[in-house]
Amino acid sequence: MTNTLNTEHFWMPFTANRQFKSRPRMLVSASGMHYTTDDGRRILDGTAGLWCVNAGHCHPKITEAIRRQAAELDYAPTFQMGHPKAFEAASALVSIAPEGLDRVFFCNDGSEAVDSALKIALAYHQVRGNGSRTRLIGRERAYHGVGFGGIAVGGMAGNRKHFGPTLAGADHLRHTLDIARNAFSRGQPEHGAEIADELEQRLLALHDPSTVAAVIVEPIQGSTGVIIPPKGYLQRLRTLCDQYSILLIFDEVITGFGRLGAPFGSQYFGITPDMIICAKGLTNAAVPMGAVLVRREIHDAFMSAAPENSIEFYHGYTYSGHPLAAAAAIAAIDVYKSKGMFERAASMAPYWEEAVHNLRGLPYVKDIRNLGMVCGIELDPVPGKPGARAFDVFLRCFWEKNVLIRTTGDIIALSPPLIIERTQIDQLLEAIADVLKSQKSVPDTHSMAADSIAV
Ligand SMILES: Cc1ncc(COP(=O)(O)O)c(C=O)c1O
Repeated sequence: MTNTLNTEHFWMPFTANRQFKSRPRMLVSASGMHYTTDDGRRILDGTAGLWCVNAGHCHPKITEAIRRQAAELDYAPTFQMGHPKAFEAASALVSIAPEGLDRVFFCNDGSEAVDSALKIALAYHQVRGNGSRTRLIGRERAYHGVGFGGIAVGGMAGNRKHFGPTLAGADHLRHTLDIARNAFSRGQPEHGAEIADELEQRLLALHDPSTVAAVIVEPIQGSTGVIIPPKGYLQRLRTLCDQYSILLIFDEVITGFGRLGAPFGSQYFGITPDMIICAKGLTNAAVPMGAVLVRREIHDAFMSAAPENSIEFYHGYTYSGHPLAAAAAIAAIDVYKSKGMFERAASMAPYWEEAVHNLRGLPYVKDIRNLGMVCGIELDPVPGKPGARAFDVFLRCFWEKNVLIRTTGDIIALSPPLIIERTQIDQLLEAIADVLKSQKSVPDTHSMAADSIAV
């Protein structure tokens, strides 16, 4: 079918365009745990699309809600106007959020949600008379989307190096990946909580706490290869942020909506940040949508600082709370709750953990890390060709084994829809195991660039 398709015009995002177009990998439909390709193959989805289709593909309730909404109210502005679904979607989101985070700012994706949260943090300090708090602290190897704010606090060299100095005043904590001490950890690694102390000992000592607005972290760093926080690390960050009146933002674009067996990583880890950024699973990815969950006191600071009848926060998007996205979010959250999907993920996690760690000892496997329904399998790189080994495994899984995996650098990242069955977990991991066992030491596809770490 795609023989006749013109692939010239679409400049594909985060893609080796020339490689893809030389032999396109085309998905034409999806249902539940599977995609179907243009050549009629059923592909087991080991990645929930891009960490987002948590309830499985084309869930009938979500599809129907979108269909109905499109016919009833296609679009209404949320600038100085409103429509009920946007408010209902906010309430639905709050119904699964940690206590106290009950104000919702809507946008269209994770990147916009990151930029929105950073702007809320900066403006919050300003409306409270602390205008000197302008610094934003992220982490090395963080991925916070592709907006200028997100790449400033992000820590992926490839995503930053072409775009100049980005935001002034952003700085970074070290990441917590420590294979030497924590290789093959099951769940949270033992070592590395002390890395959080860098916030105080290095960054606050350097910049002074009175200049820092917020610390932003992904509870699990997903896009740079599933870096699980060491035991105690996130608690330590929370304590330090409290101590110095710095806002703590969790970017839960990946960890939200059940990935760890709880609605958010915040509940899983038992730590309440001041804001949670979410997107992806918010609508089960059926319509783009992002959101920032904000602690009520932060929201109220804006309400009480602005004069009556004036706009309290000069920020928003034409499609903030778009009717189709709102309808999809209400339906998706209802599906997650009514089908017990978060609990299902929690109960499947031990089987998942066992299954992924069975790959230990296979050729090139140098680390396996997991939590909830996510795992990273780090491979030894082809010397001088970072990324080439994992990319080859990805291609062979797709063409030879009919399974979709995701790779970032030389790390395989798996995050299946939460509806995955045990037999499908077995199928996914057997496919990867087979491919690893028959890997050439220098694979055929060995042209990946050194900066191939991407989302
Ligand atoms: C933690 C995190 N933040 C932000 C984003 C960006 O989201 P989007 O691609 O929807 O802009 C992603 C995307 O993978 C992510 O993983």
